[in-house]
Amino acid sequence: MDNFTFANPTKIIFGKETENQVGKEIEGYSKKVLLHYGGGSIKTTGLYDRVISSLKKSGIEYVELSGVKPNPRLSLVKEGIKICRENNIGFILAVGGGSVIDSAKAIACGVPYEGDVWDFYLGKNIIKKALPIGVILTIPAAGSESSKNSVITNEDGWYKRGVGAPALYPKFSILNPELAFTLPKYQVACGAADIMAHLMERYFTNTRNVELTDRLIESTMKTIINNVPTVLNQHDNYDAWAEVMWAGTVAHNGLLNTGRVGDWGSHGIEHELSGIYDVAHGAGLAVVFPAWMKYVYKNDVNRFAQFAVRVWNIDNSFWDVERTALEGISKLENFFRRIGLPTTLSELGIEDDRLEEMAYKGTNGETSTLGNFVKLGKEDIFNILTLAK
Ligand code: NZQ
Ligand code: ZN
Repeated sequence: MDNFTFANPTKIIFGKETENQVGKEIEGYSKKVLLHYGGGSIKTTGLYDRVISSLKKSGIEYVELSGVKPNPRLSLVKEGIKICRENNIGFILAVGGGSVIDSAKAIACGVPYEGDVWDFYLGKNIIKKALPIGVILTIPAAGSESSKNSVITNEDGWYKRGVGAPALYPKFSILNPELAFTLPKYQVACGAADIMAHLMERYFTNTRNVELTDRLIESTMKTIINNVPTVLNQHDNYDAWAEVMWAGTVAHNGLLNTGRVGDWGSHGIEHELSGIYDVAHGAGLAVVFPAWMKYVYKNDVNRFAQFAVRVWNIDNSFWDVERTALEGISKLENFFRRIGLPTTLSELGIEDDRLEEMAYKGTNGETSTLGNFVKLGKEDIFNILTLAK
């Protein structure tokens, strides 16, 4: 196990009707907030009215900025920065999923920064300050509700890039599993794939002697595998949603990568896909991850066999461990298909041939590599995307 420091400062408020506490939670930070949300699901579900009523009860003024798209855009972020400066906003409340939260984080670090907020996403500058943000989560998926990351798409060139900094941790996140009852099935499945991917990115490591985190990751994966089919069939099953929602947060709050180095190559490749084609992040991962696995499993067949045995309950073929490893990968693919996700680029609607371009962008013009379990150059990324066709 490697040395590590673990500190996740996000306060989690979990359970039924907890969104009604939001005004109280903000009181200590500011009397003026930016209320940030997406395309309108929060209005049709009635959540918007409950949030406004809670803010009013606490005497908190608000300015609204809606319209965050999945794969959130830089242009809206810049609009948000301007609104916050003009209105002297002291707190940002994100009500939605990963896209809204990431957009809120980008606005939060852009407000006190004199340069172009995109600098942070290009690694040209480091985030030192940000406005405080709070979250009401409506979809278990990205884990942004307790991560220090933000992923934004720049429409100029369709670059999707991420940044991480301690200042971006939300001050609090409200997780009410009831808010997920209204999710369309496809979004549920995309969320599940993203959560699985966050776990697998951490699981496939070259760090030795990490039994505790291995087992925590395995049980979190099993929780997703067991409960996602239930919520797909029973959209208002609170108990199953509670498991999925908490698993989504635990998968990405930093605990499960303590003392180990994760991979993150599949995420890097997927960001090129959703950057160019605007597909849902989880759907892109359901396509990329199995292809990545088939490309790299020989790097550590035993680890893939462990994944097959412990997560998918496959009997180990002691005389042919490679067979066990491959069965695990095919179980994962079947799971993605069973919950309604594409597992090939063509099923994702991508028929044209921009694989070379994605491989080029993914390595920043062949100046860097993706991933740690196996370091991927341009040709590797191209080969993985070809396997995913
Ligand atoms: O916009 P509205 O109308 O709200 O509809 C949303 C959106 O269309 C809908 N939705 C959300 N909650 C709903 C609902 N519809 C009905 N009922 C509800 N309760 O779902 C759609 C997808 O929302 P989005 O926020 O895009 O989903 P997700 O949480 O999967 O976020 C994806 C984004 O997060 C980034 C991804 O790259 C992608 O841009 N990620 C962020 C990470 C982070 N910050 O740590 C890590 C992840 O790996 C990921 O990269
Ligand atoms: Zn992800």
